[in-house]
Amino acid sequence: MADGLRKGLTSYGDAGFSLFLRKAFIKAAGYSDDALDRPIVGITNTYSDYNPCHGNVPALIEAAKRGVMLAGAMPMVFPTISIAESFSHPTSMYLRNLMAMDTEEMIRAQPMDAVIVIGGCDKTLPAQIMAAVSADLPTVVIPVGPMVVGHHKGEVLGACTDCRRLWAKYRAGEIDDAEIEAVNGRLAPSVGTCMVMGTASTMACVTEALGLSLPMSATIPAPHAERVRSAEASGKCAAEMAKHKGPRPSELLTPASFRNAQVVLQAIGGSTNGLVHLTAIAGRTSHRIDLDAFDALGREVPVLVDLKPSGAHYMEHFHHAGGVPKLMKQLGGLIDLDAKTVTGATLRDVVANAEEVPGQDAIRPRADPIKPEGAMAVLRGNLAPRGAVIKHSAASERLLRHTGRAVVFESVEDMTLRIDDPALDVRADDVLVLRNAGPKGAPGMPEAGYLPIPMKLARTGVKDMVRISDARMSGTAFGTIVLHITPESAVGGPLALVRTGDQIRLDVAGRRIDLLVDDAELQRRRAAVVETGRPEWAARGYARLFHDTITQADDGCDFDFMRGEGKR
Ligand code: FES
Repeated sequence: MADGLRKGLTSYGDAGFSLFLRKAFIKAAGYSDDALDRPIVGITNTYSDYNPCHGNVPALIEAAKRGVMLAGAMPMVFPTISIAESFSHPTSMYLRNLMAMDTEEMIRAQPMDAVIVIGGCDKTLPAQIMAAVSADLPTVVIPVGPMVVGHHKGEVLGACTDCRRLWAKYRAGEIDDAEIEAVNGRLAPSVGTCMVMGTASTMACVTEALGLSLPMSATIPAPHAERVRSAEASGKCAAEMAKHKGPRPSELLTPASFRNAQVVLQAIGGSTNGLVHLTAIAGRTSHRIDLDAFDALGREVPVLVDLKPSGAHYMEHFHHAGGVPKLMKQLGGLIDLDAKTVTGATLRDVVANAEEVPGQDAIRPRADPIKPEGAMAVLRGNLAPRGAVIKHSAASERLLRHTGRAVVFESVEDMTLRIDDPALDVRADDVLVLRNAGPKGAPGMPEAGYLPIPMKLARTGVKDMVRISDARMSGTAFGTIVLHITPESAVGGPLALVRTGDQIRLDVAGRRIDLLVDDAELQRRRAAVVETGRPEWAARGYARLFHDTITQADDGCDFDFMRGEGKR
């Protein structure tokens, strides 16, 4: 197969002319024949004024280019979609698959022998890895890295666990307008991704565990010089991969590496979103994430990383304690050390080089875990025949077994309108239910699963309630929250049948979520459900593609025709 500039020639019916034309035009940018004869490493550029999490991307691109050139190859930077959480309407998840398609097709369309994808804000690394897996070109991932921590009145702050905690205090009247404004300027004190174990940090750690990025690359803070040096080293690594035509993602992503990623996901107290994204990545290969196997791993794998929202520290502390290599060392036999990484080294080599940091307490030994079980559990029951997820490491112990009266919200809009209504009939031991917030119903499965505590209860000191939905939740949130109920209500899942006043039972130890209504009554309710056609928002364009082809959470919310084997 042709390589370098000769790869994937534009179709003019004359290959010689196609190359002649390509060279003529690229020479307009001042490239020499020497440069153009080298193996090419493509580098994605996801810098955007709308994406402050990626604020250091220009510096990382420069460093990666330097690394590529030091190793004798030719870097070519190209733009792709960038997605930032708080600048994506209706929700970033709606755009993840679009970014994956854009990135995959630009990798395919343009001549390159290897690619470096630089990302970090929640949906970007999953989208880029989904793309890289489908294109199956040698790929190195460079996460942008986490922000450094903020400070307020002597307290350490982290986006966005403390965003939510302090906003809840503001809603409860515990802090005033002036203080919440001051906090607003201190929660995100640098570029980079949220510095708690949210989705961005989770996916960076999962990427490192999959062997797709360099050791320590998940945790180096975004503003640190070490982050830039890691980008340079990633550039060198990608150049070597371009020369040797491997390893490709299909060589690195094996059942062992996916299992390692799931072990790390549980042990870091990872985001529930991480499970959906890992499922989508696996769906692009011939491997699958099995929810029951993931749950079984969770009973075996302890949470060892002491980070918010499950624990106390922040990403920079995880980094200074030895990062993912040290974590994998502590996990011992739970990790398959024969799994390979982009450098050609195995995880055994990575773990052998893990730093020993005397006195660190961010990465616990297995004998003294943060939680004896993993971060997440998969629930089933008559409310969730295809599963639901709870991050029980960040939930209230007293609510993990709970039966309560349902208070139902029809949609995110309905919840927004009514949740703070003083006339809302709600008690602290009720179960808040949100539906029509799944992949198809919302659309895009927004992070609305963290239903706020109704104002009138928050003001009496209620901090947590059982909340259930077909939505997602930010990985930075804390609470007894059941998410990803599958099938979602918009496609006829049983969540659509719940009525205010019904009893719902949550039993995390038993892995159950049940609606305590008899089958005959449920059948009567189902018969009364009126089928609706394609909604107005999905009349055309990407919205229509999304609506018609999005899969459920247990399939990773990828488009059905994007799976490894194509549409089933
Ligand atoms: Fe970008 Fe949290 S908002 S990582």
